[in-house]
Amino acid sequence: MNSKLTIALSKGRIYKDTVPLLGAVGIECLDDPETSRKLILDTNHEHIKIVIIRAADVPTYVQYGAADLGVAGKDVLMEHGGQDLYEPLDLRIARCKLMVAGPCNLPPDILEKAPGKRLRIATKYTNSTRDYFARRGIQVEIIKLYGSMELAPLVQLSDLIVDVVDTGNTLKANGLEPIAHMADISSRLVVNKASMKMKHRLVQDFLTRMEQAVGVQV
Ligand code: ATP
Ligand code: PRP
Repeated sequence: MNSKLTIALSKGRIYKDTVPLLGAVGIECLDDPETSRKLILDTNHEHIKIVIIRAADVPTYVQYGAADLGVAGKDVLMEHGGQDLYEPLDLRIARCKLMVAGPCNLPPDILEKAPGKRLRIATKYTNSTRDYFARRGIQVEIIKLYGSMELAPLVQLSDLIVDVVDTGNTLKANGLEPIAHMADISSRLVVNKASMKMKHRLVQDFLTRMEQAVGVQV
């Protein structure tokens, strides 16, 4: 039986919010990804490693078994599609909302009474956006961006955006406001399906302890 465990995390918000949960189950990272250039980090357990990757790549690493476990936002998981992943635990961290947003001066029924042309939506969440509008029978043109979505309506690249919103400060600072709520988002623990079978005891033990840590955190 392979007794090593690899956990995929992204730098920044997810790493920062996951560290206390890992600490509560006795796992400490020996390097700081914010200062180290290493991408495979050692922990205080020889058999547990942490790999540092882009947030949107976490489901891919776990899907292919390059990591046994990972932490990813529900927004990222919805976009990925969740193939070959188990999603056993809501860690209740990095909470926000996936929203449609646009300039403050738009008519409130902009989505129902779309103008003569198709609405242009700028987003990095192209799959979720396509599904959301298709289910409502609204024709849209989707423009794929990789960040700073809030800029797009300001320079007439798009009519609207789809992005995550927490405090709403970024929208407000750019003269935008929420138009529709698409989904509540938090980060989830994801597990590779083969690892769940082949490393069952190790993974299950980790899951049980993480579940307790999340319970205590609430
Ligand atoms: P990258 O930096 O690789 O472009 P990213 O910007 O999506 O990726 P983060 O900003 O670290 O990465 O966000 C990670 C996750 O945290 C997102 O997938 C989302 O679930 C959540 N998140 C994003 N923005 C916020 C926010 N302002 N408040 C709370 N949670 C957020
Ligand atoms: C995210 C998101 C929004 C912002 C929303 O960006 O893309 O721009 O947070 O948060 P708010 O509603 O509290 O203002 P982030 O800060 O992660 O920067 P990023 O563009 O580098 O992902």
